[in-house]
Amino acid sequence: MTTQLVSTISKPTNCDRQKLPQHIAIIMDGNGRWARKKGLPRIEGHRQGANTLKEILRTCKNWGIDTLTAYAFSTENWGRPSTEVGFLMNLFERLLRKELQELKEEGVRIRFLGDISPLPSSLQQKISYSMAETRQNQAINFNVAINYGSRKEIVKVCRDIAKKVALGELYPDEINENLFSQYLYTSNSPDPDLLIRTGGEMRLSNFLLWQMAYTEIYVIDTLWPDFDAQQLAKAIASYQKRDRRFGKKVS
Ligand code: FPP
Repeated sequence: MTTQLVSTISKPTNCDRQKLPQHIAIIMDGNGRWARKKGLPRIEGHRQGANTLKEILRTCKNWGIDTLTAYAFSTENWGRPSTEVGFLMNLFERLLRKELQELKEEGVRIRFLGDISPLPSSLQQKISYSMAETRQNQAINFNVAINYGSRKEIVKVCRDIAKKVALGELYPDEINENLFSQYLYTSNSPDPDLLIRTGGEMRLSNFLLWQMAYTEIYVIDTLWPDFDAQQLAKAIASYQKRDRRFGKKVS
């Protein structure tokens, strides 16, 4: 029901279509609370959350947003009960199997941010396959952060750059912000303009710390499974009222 309703909204209301954020990042929080409120197991929240993500991706594509980045599983999420972790891994794999054809048809280019090496090998294979199969697509870039942690990402970049220096392939003086960005999982992607966090918590939770230095933050109490296109439009409208100075002083 929600699925059909959301996808019928073809344009953002109350927004300036000329000033849409190019890149939206989302912390999809509140799946567990959503399930608890309904007397359901937590995994049902994740299942419904996946439906919401699908609809928000389609909405972003229809509205002309260039990139959507979703935080699906953090490096810290391994600390959850093994049944929940197992369910999430199966859910990611099932979604990739079920949805890849549609993603391809809709022109979605999918990329994964994070260290995929500890993931089940069948999931790793589907991840590599879906990236290869959608490489040429241009309707929207869809980044999914899985086993992602920003501090680990930054340390990895330092290590990769240090190796180049040790091999004599790079001079320390050549290291600058631009070069550093090229070693991140998000290389070749513009930084997020807008971060939306559902579930009401006011924190970044180790998500894209480097990339979000000047990102506008929008936190909403709505739990992720209940988030929809109207609320996305509201978040965008709020973003459009912000005065983005990137640290520069107004004259
Ligand atoms: C946070 O809610 C949500 C997650 C850790 C999982 C998010 C994953 C999905 C929505 C599935 C998406 C699927 C793909 C393929 C990207 P929480 O469990 O922390 O909720 P709580 O704060 O209410 O406990």
